[in-house]
Amino acid sequence: MENEKYKDLFNRTAPLDMSAEQFKKLGYSLVDKASEFLSSIRDYPVAVAKDVKELKKMLDSSASLPAEGADIGEVLNLVTGQLLNNSLFNAHPRFWGYISASAAPIGILGDMFAAVINPNVGAYKLSPVATEIETQSVKWIAELISYPSDCGGILVSGGNMANFICYLAARTEMADWNIRQEGLVSDKGKRLLAYASGETHTWLQKAADLFGQGTNSIRWVETDDNQQMDMNNLKKQVREDISSGFKPFMVVGTGGSVSTGAIDPLHEISDFCKENNLWFHVDGAYGGFAAAVPGISKDLTGLSKADSVAVDPHKWLYNPLEVGCALVRDPNHLTDAFSYHPSYYNFDEDQINYFERGMQNSRGFKALKVWLAIKQVGKKGYQKMIQDDIRLAEYLFLDLTNYPNLQRLTNNLSITTFRYLPDDLKDSQSEEKIAKYLNELNQQLLEEIEKSGEIFLSVAMIGDIHALRICIVNFRTSLEDMIALPKIISQMGDGIDSELRTKFLG
Ligand SMILES: Cc1ncc(COP(=O)(O)O)c(C=O)c1O
Repeated sequence: MENEKYKDLFNRTAPLDMSAEQFKKLGYSLVDKASEFLSSIRDYPVAVAKDVKELKKMLDSSASLPAEGADIGEVLNLVTGQLLNNSLFNAHPRFWGYISASAAPIGILGDMFAAVINPNVGAYKLSPVATEIETQSVKWIAELISYPSDCGGILVSGGNMANFICYLAARTEMADWNIRQEGLVSDKGKRLLAYASGETHTWLQKAADLFGQGTNSIRWVETDDNQQMDMNNLKKQVREDISSGFKPFMVVGTGGSVSTGAIDPLHEISDFCKENNLWFHVDGAYGGFAAAVPGISKDLTGLSKADSVAVDPHKWLYNPLEVGCALVRDPNHLTDAFSYHPSYYNFDEDQINYFERGMQNSRGFKALKVWLAIKQVGKKGYQKMIQDDIRLAEYLFLDLTNYPNLQRLTNNLSITTFRYLPDDLKDSQSEEKIAKYLNELNQQLLEEIEKSGEIFLSVAMIGDIHALRICIVNFRTSLEDMIALPKIISQMGDGIDSELRTKFLG
C-alpha cells in the first residue's frame, strides 16, 4: 500500500469542524442574542419596510461563490444583526397576519438539539428514540383534539403536506382499482372527484394538480352567509355526479378556514360521507387545535369522526416552522398508500419506519420541539393559550362597535375581520363607485399599516368586501395590544381617506 500518499489523512483536518471552545463561544453568543431579542421584542418594529434593492445590497447578493472560507464569528455577527434589524417578526405581540405563530422558546431549543443528534427519522433503526418521540407526539396530538389515539399519523413540513398525505391515503383507499400500480390511466377506473367548499385552502388545488387528478376533479360546494359548506348543494352535486358516471371519493370539511376561521358542519358531513361511502377529511390546519378547548364550537367536535385530519403544530401549538401533522383513522391506510420495501434497506418491518408512512425518505427530527412543548405546558396549558387567543379576537370584535369609522364583519375562532368605513359613507356603501373606493381605501390602509411597523395584519375577501383580518396565534399578544389596534387603524384610516377621497370620488 502506498501509505505515503494518504498519510495526511491520519490527522485529517476538516474546514467545517470546530473546536469545543469555538463551538461554545459561538453558541453562547447566539443564545445570548436570541434571549435578548425575545425579551425585548416589543421594542422592535413588527416589520421593517426596506425595498428589495436595499436588501440585496445589504446582503451583497450579487457576490459570487466564495472560494475561501471566512471568519465565521464575524459572519455570524453580521448576519444575525442583519436578520434582527430587517425581518418580519411573527413572534412580535402585534403580529396578527396570515396564520403564523409566535414560536415557543422551548421549540427553538428543541430544534437546536434535534440538529445536534441529527437522527434520520425515516427508519426506526436509524432513530429509535426519535421515532418513539414522534410516535408519542402524534398520539398526544390526536388525544388533544379528541381524535382516536390509536390512529396512524406522521409529522410533515406543514398544513399543505399534511393535507396531501391524507388526500393520497384517501385516493388509494377509495379507488376501485390499484391506483398506485396502474395510475390514473386505468381503463377500469371512473374519474375520482373531491368535494370542498370555496373557502378551502389552496392545498386542494395543488393536490389535485400535482397528483394527476387535475383541478377539474374538484367540485366546489357553495357556502352560506357564514362561509360554511351548504349541505344541500353538496348532496345535489354528489347525486348528479354519480348519475353521470363519476366516482366521488372524498369530502373535505374545513375546521377553521384560512380567511375567516369558518367551520364547516363537520357532523353533517360525516353522516353524509358514511351514508354514501365517501372518505371524510378535515383540514384542521388552522382551527383543529381549538377542538382541545371544550365548548368552542360544536361543529368542530365533528373532526373526531373524520377518516383523516390535517393539523399544523407550527400554527396553534406555537412550534417554530416547520411542522404539520397528518392523522389517519386506520393506520394501515398510510402504509397502504406509501410503503415500499427496497432491498437496500435492512430495516425491521415490525417497527415504525416513517419513510413507509409518507412522502419523505430521509426525515428530520421535527418531533422534539412538539414533544417538548407539550411536556412543558400539557393539555391545560394549550387549552389556556388557545382560549386566550380566541378571547382576544372576540374582544376586538365587540370593541369595534365603539368606533364609528370601523365596520366589524366576522369573528370565528381567533380571526376577526373588519374594515375602515367612514361614517358618512355608511349609507352609500353598496353603491358600485363607493364600494370600489372602500376596497381601494382598505387596500391602501393595509399597505400603510405594514409600512408603519406598529402592527401587522392581512387581508380577507368577504364576498366583494376587501376586509382587514387579524388572526391571533400569538401567546405574546395581550389585551393592551387589542385595545390599541382599532385606535391605530381608525386614525390611519382617517388620514388616508382624506388623501384619497377627492381623487377617487371627485
Ligand atoms: C386551513 C388551512 N389549510 C392549509 C394551510 C396550509 O398550511 P401550511 O402553510 O402550513 O402549508 C393553511 C395555512 O394557512 C390553512 O389555513
